[in-house]
Amino acid sequence: MIRVHVPATSANLGPGYDCLGLALDWEGVFDFERIESGVSIHGCNEQYCNEDNLVYRSFLHTLAAMNEEISGISITIHCDIPTQRGLGSSAACIVAGAMGANALFQNRLNKYELFSLCTRMEGHPDNVAPALFGQLTVSFIDEGQPSMIRYGLHPQLKFLAMIPQTGVSTQEARSLLPDHLSYADAVSQIGRSAALCKALEIGNHLIIRKACHDTMHEPYRRQLIEEYDQMYEIAKKAGASAMFISGSGSTMLAVSDEESILMDIMLAGKKAFPIMEMKILKADRIGAWSEVL
Ligand code: HSE
Repeated sequence: MIRVHVPATSANLGPGYDCLGLALDWEGVFDFERIESGVSIHGCNEQYCNEDNLVYRSFLHTLAAMNEEISGISITIHCDIPTQRGLGSSAACIVAGAMGANALFQNRLNKYELFSLCTRMEGHPDNVAPALFGQLTVSFIDEGQPSMIRYGLHPQLKFLAMIPQTGVSTQEARSLLPDHLSYADAVSQIGRSAALCKALEIGNHLIIRKACHDTMHEPYRRQLIEEYDQMYEIAKKAGASAMFISGSGSTMLAVSDEESILMDIMLAGKKAFPIMEMKILKADRIGAWSEVL
């Protein structure tokens, strides 16, 4: 049996819309075992236990890219990364299917080839890149092909995921964005996102705080997250280095190197929104990996 481990991810990180991504130490585990015939999927909601399952579709897509076929497969999913919360659940499924298929054929494709296949399935590379490679990734599309480069993350940095009860549809969140961006805003985004990567790598909190200001997507999307304004004020007052919308939401991520600050945000947040899920996370350093059991 092949077992694949894939981390949750957070895309955008404020100013890095569709380019920056971060892998988190919250993993989904996916098991793949050959069976005589057909497909058998377990471990997820009944409505996804069929041939439309994203893990399975990615598995087939990767087999096709390798010109391979198999007679049957059983997939068991142990993954509590929530859907529609901006934590990369669809990228995790896509990466899992691709890694599972590849591992069944002696890892014939390298991770960059899988990155290309997975990006094509997901439509954008910013969750797929950290899910595959770990840490902080910067990715972009060049002549139809994704490229990515990885930064380290300062080991003291921690992230508080504040996960609302209500999800956000990525499609809706994308549809709210305007078609054009001014030169002034573009300059601000470029400078801030480039500075943010280095600041996260070396743990420069002053620059993290200043750089994590977005004018490209968060002003349009915050209205979809009822808790955003209040949580932003709580995080700021507690002394977080930054708080941004994770991916297209609805999760918000606060950043600090002091766990006590994140605990304060968690306590105040729980008072304001008792049923909101909160989780303190670190970065994942290696990305997806597979083992033969
Ligand atoms: N970069 C994408 C977006 C991530 O913000 O729409 C979707 O999870």
